[in-house]
Amino acid sequence: MKENKILITYATMSGSTQEIAEFVANELTHLGQPLELRPCREVNDLKAFSGIVIGAPLYMFHLHKDAQRFLQRHQKSLADLPIAVFAGGPYGPNAAQDALEVHKNLGEELTKFTWLKPVSVQLVGGRFDPARLRFPYNLIPALKQAPASDARNWEEIRSWVHSLPTLLAHPLHQALA
Ligand SMILES: Cc1cc2nc3c(=O)[nH]c(=O)nc-3n(C[C@H](O)[C@H](O)[C@H](O)COP(=O)(O)O)c2cc1C
Repeated sequence: MKENKILITYATMSGSTQEIAEFVANELTHLGQPLELRPCREVNDLKAFSGIVIGAPLYMFHLHKDAQRFLQRHQKSLADLPIAVFAGGPYGPNAAQDALEVHKNLGEELTKFTWLKPVSVQLVGGRFDPARLRFPYNLIPALKQAPASDARNWEEIRSWVHSLPTLLAHPLHQALA
């Protein structure tokens, strides 16, 4: 039988998804949930886990490549595990207005993985910091000159995290484990 251990994994370019994943891990640890926290790239197999939380930010309307590869690589195991998804996306002064559109985009990206049936999908605000842009985005003047912003709402993220132990222990998935 699997122990009740959750994997919290994330893809990131500029670090904000990693920070959210660390926050999620801290909150769940306080709730007594056994877990491991690792970047998507460093996960070899999912045998030890009874549930997954993945942070998969949107870049140019697509899930970060590391998250896409994680979902492809572990498709077989993931199909039998409860999985919760969070994604940082909208940022800047229009983040709240953009959220609906971005949520739709996120849903479309996730349905490309036809076997994936997340128990929860949470859009969280994104952080933008021109100093953290990587190649090739750091070559784009409009991006380099754009103001820094952080639309992450930690209280909202915290209340989502508190719903996770129940969602990830979904009876259907327990029956399959
Ligand atoms: C070049 C670039 C493209 C982006 N494309 C999108 C996008 O298509 N949709 C979206 O909602 N957010 C987009 N974002 C916002 C990021 O998803 C957001 O800043 C997120 O917090 C970044 O996560 P990270 O710091 O973990 O890499 C983009 C950001 C950059 C810098």
